[in-house]
Amino acid sequence: MIIAVDGPAASGKGTVARALARHFDLPHLDTGLLYRAVAYTVHRLELDPTREADAIAACDFDELTLADPALRDDEVGQLASVVSVHPLVRAALFQRQKRFANQPGGAVLDGRDIGTVIAPEADAKLFVKATAPVRARRRHHELTERGREITYEQVLADIRARDARDSARSTAPLTQAADAAPLDTSALTVEAATRRAIALVNGRLIGRRSTA
Ligand code: CDP
Repeated sequence: MIIAVDGPAASGKGTVARALARHFDLPHLDTGLLYRAVAYTVHRLELDPTREADAIAACDFDELTLADPALRDDEVGQLASVVSVHPLVRAALFQRQKRFANQPGGAVLDGRDIGTVIAPEADAKLFVKATAPVRARRRHHELTERGREITYEQVLADIRARDARDSARSTAPLTQAADAAPLDTSALTVEAATRRAIALVNGRLIGRRSTA
């Protein structure tokens, strides 16, 4: 069983995806980390993230990079949305995500284009969203908890810039798949969002069985 979870920055998609993976006992891949690893490598090698050739050179990143807490920084998220615009970067990361999705038993993947590009055949698709101010508050809390000095206004501006870049790119833009179930987490606790996500996935699975 493949579960695709997409949505914008700090919408709660990672939390929902991890909870679904636990509930359905499936492996989980946070695909944003792959783009963050490319971005971080571009930065470390002092390459130009706007140049496709530079960004591709960073796709061959060291696997240990994926565990680096620096990937969670706001600047790396911004840079990730710059490198992820390049079609050849997306192509370089495609097979790895596809393989993860197609492993025996299935998987949960979260990102921006899982239900549309990586696993359009997914058994259940969720599109997790929340208003920009709610997402900015969450991300601001997360970052300040980790000791980062950043204002709420800066986080909100960054989230808006990233939303715009992720939605406007021509290759694999952030968009809700036609067959994805929307889940607005703006007014939901983590527990409520998790319960709702499990119910939506179960609903999709039952729906699939009855139409098969
Ligand atoms: O955790 P957050 O939602 O802030 O970001 P992320 O999921 O780690 O993704 C960082 C950036 O990588 C996004 O803003 C996208 O530009 C890019 N990304 C993408 O293009 N496609 C994906 N499947 C996942 C992330």
